[in-house]
Amino acid sequence: MALISEKFNEALNAQIGEELNSAYIYLSASIWLKEHSYNKLSSWYFTQYNEELSHAYKFINYIIDVGGTAKIPAIPEPKSDWESVKEILETGYAHEQYITGKIHELVTLAEELKDYNPRELLQWFVTEQIEEEASASELVERQAAFKNDMLFDQHTVRNEE
Ligand code: FEO
Repeated sequence: MALISEKFNEALNAQIGEELNSAYIYLSASIWLKEHSYNKLSSWYFTQYNEELSHAYKFINYIIDVGGTAKIPAIPEPKSDWESVKEILETGYAHEQYITGKIHELVTLAEELKDYNPRELLQWFVTEQIEEEASASELVERQAAFKNDMLFDQHTVRNEE
């Protein structure tokens, strides 16, 4: 017998879509940045793209573990005609805030459904989103401080992973 309700399974499948959508946005950002020779920022977003794929896998593995059905929803085409580095960074930060809201909705839904099994999984994501927002917000602040995008790019290092 599955240890997951249909409703929560559906919500997790939707979240797989959100994580893959995040991956697409960051891959698209990485491509634009590389095309414009912002190589370190491009690499930062490529790492972020891979991180989002791993987030999707976490949900997929959980659904399989509890005997549910993991499905990948349609992923929208990401924006590719970026105007500037600043636009990418601000989009990334706003997107992470949006994803935090989605994770919190899952926490609320699990509580409403009295499903205690995903607690550890969801707590991992709650904590992860604090880091995700912090690093996205830091990029926005650092870019504003630098003024020169090429110089900012040269001083961008991603330490974790
Ligand atoms: Fe999967 Fe960047 O949140």
